[in-house]
Amino acid sequence: MPKGVERFYHLTNKTVSLLVDCRGLQPAIRYFGPLLSDVNERMIEQIDRHEAPASLPSEPAITLSPTHGMGYLGHPALAVKRDLDQWQLDLELVTCEVSKRELRFVSVCQKRSVETTHRLQLAEEAGVLTLTVTLKNLDPATPLGVDNCLITIPVPDHLTEAQEFTGRWGYELQHNRFQLPNSSLVRENRTGRSSHHLHPSLRLLSNSTGLDTGDAVDIQIAWSGNHTIRVERLADGRRLMQAGELLDAGELVLAPGASYTSPECLLCFSKEGTNGLSQQWHRLVRRNYTSATASAQQFSPQQAIRPVQLNTWEACYFSVNEANVIELIDQAANLGIERFVLDDGWFHGRNNDQTSLGDWKVDRLKFPRGLGPIAAYCNEKGLEFGLWIEPEMVSPDSNLYRAHPDWVLSFSDSSLIEARHQLVLDLSIEDVTEYLFAVISDLLTDIPISYLKWDMNRDIHQMENAAGQRAVHQQTLALYALMARVRENFPHIAIESCASGGGRIDLGVLQFANRFWPSDTNDALDRIKVQAGFLSLLPPELMGSHVGPSPCHLTGRQHSMAFRAAVAFWGHMGVEADIRGLTENERSILAAAINLHKAHRHLLHQGRYIEHEPSEQQAAWSIVSDDQTESLTAVALLQTPRAAFPNRIRFGGLNTFSKYRVQLIWPQELTDKQADYRDTLESTMYGGDWLQNVGITLPIMHPESMLIFHLTKS
Ligand code: DGJ
Repeated sequence: MPKGVERFYHLTNKTVSLLVDCRGLQPAIRYFGPLLSDVNERMIEQIDRHEAPASLPSEPAITLSPTHGMGYLGHPALAVKRDLDQWQLDLELVTCEVSKRELRFVSVCQKRSVETTHRLQLAEEAGVLTLTVTLKNLDPATPLGVDNCLITIPVPDHLTEAQEFTGRWGYELQHNRFQLPNSSLVRENRTGRSSHHLHPSLRLLSNSTGLDTGDAVDIQIAWSGNHTIRVERLADGRRLMQAGELLDAGELVLAPGASYTSPECLLCFSKEGTNGLSQQWHRLVRRNYTSATASAQQFSPQQAIRPVQLNTWEACYFSVNEANVIELIDQAANLGIERFVLDDGWFHGRNNDQTSLGDWKVDRLKFPRGLGPIAAYCNEKGLEFGLWIEPEMVSPDSNLYRAHPDWVLSFSDSSLIEARHQLVLDLSIEDVTEYLFAVISDLLTDIPISYLKWDMNRDIHQMENAAGQRAVHQQTLALYALMARVRENFPHIAIESCASGGGRIDLGVLQFANRFWPSDTNDALDRIKVQAGFLSLLPPELMGSHVGPSPCHLTGRQHSMAFRAAVAFWGHMGVEADIRGLTENERSILAAAINLHKAHRHLLHQGRYIEHEPSEQQAAWSIVSDDQTESLTAVALLQTPRAAFPNRIRFGGLNTFSKYRVQLIWPQELTDKQADYRDTLESTMYGGDWLQNVGITLPIMHPESMLIFHLTKS
């Protein structure tokens, strides 16, 4: 072994162990799972298998970056080229730095003058391991092309199923669970954003893993550009998973001395089923991401109350103007709304989606006095003011494009492909990012804005930048740099990440964002599923959830205000409908729901999320306080039930030995039978063991309705 490098490393935190094997002179994960108390070298060596028929005498290790030439015959994790030399790397471990919860392995390929650094870092508490690999071009004279740079993790034999979050525009993050194939599972996203159809994550499960029991592993890639996740079964039967940025040939070239660090891949382990995974993600995100952005905004995460907001999009679309916006602000204030977000349509000539992106000056026909008085009016009424912007885009019909037709991404001499009548600005051009920063900076300086909805409404189909290179890698980094600059200069601004709904929901952009817009659908029924997908990976306070109009503009479904408001209650609540047209009854239900949300958001936005056993006709979930003194539970009936009554609900996360009061707090309007039910329910206290094992009977419910229960410890 090289000097200072051990044969094995065992890293632990409070919940998990990580075993890394360096005997093959390349770091290889041998185990990542529940904490092991007593580990010795003989035990780790026992993981090795003896020679198999028609195989090599000793099985090649699944290293963090396996390549060809040393026995491994799977998909190579690294692919580089220099001049005509297309061969792969032959890396040898040189050093390892160990600190409390971190390992840093440096290896060198002398022949090709390349250095790699693998960094493995365990979270302080959660069962989360963060991995990156850095490639450095050591050659003083020639550039190095990088075609592939993925992290590789062995998949334990018993994890034979996968679950992905997939979908489409208006129906994102749908659960899809399936048996892993005998060959390879390859998920490749080339849309130039994290995408609607392939969220940059994958869940591996055993066939007996359920919501609360069984082993489960998630991977999430903290990256908003192209990405890939592969699960491969080798000829010898072992499985491995690879994840990282999806690079195209020629996209990444390292100058002499330059390096590339892959996006962070975060691996989360749970022994307590998929709920265990979600809870750990939520904890990690709260600790590492949102508290960091909150402190940049100079308030503590506990104080970071998320204001209920009104968004103008489905209320007015492009027809916003001073008169209707003032009316909406008045009515929003009366409803108890705390932030007003002026969506698309506010800037020069933007009367439809065919024009004006890039010309970020207020439309004086719509807002003759500008936006300053609008924001000031919001503030007078006790509301914050937020603004929509789509910085990365330009409309061909815009002054910006007419002045700088060469500022867009293109593809050789082919005609430009428009999507939603827009083109993508080339962020590799410094003048472009300078222009965008100046525009954003002027808006944020001139107007009392406290919130930006940062949208991105098309895939990148033509990805050639000004230098003639494939753009997505650099485009993503330039976006991050722009967002970071905005944050740095305007730390009080909260940013919502939106990309035609949920096209950019990932841990990469979360370094700069405070909220996600999960989907353009405000259909309460579909939202239950979108939100379940979202909450599998991210906490509820990051989940924009709005009360939309009925009928829903996307699906045509009609839902009662009580149902729409109940569904929106569970995230960062908002309203996105023309509240001027509400009936008195709808208005009072909406105001009550907003009040209820405000009364409970301390719990909703800090508590522990638990999904309960779903069925075709029913969905249920809870948010429980860490000290188990309080809990909120939703029961939604999704369709006409086969039996008269919904299934009983068995609660979770409660203290077995405590007694709880159970109150039915939503809806306000109950049928006579439901009112009797509520009175009986509330006439006694229930033990935590009763509530979790026996559960409670539910009243007859209408399909597409929701009950909300509030449990408090006596
Ligand atoms: C797509 C977003 O998802 C919508 O919420 C809205 O902001 C529109 N863009 C505006 O063009």
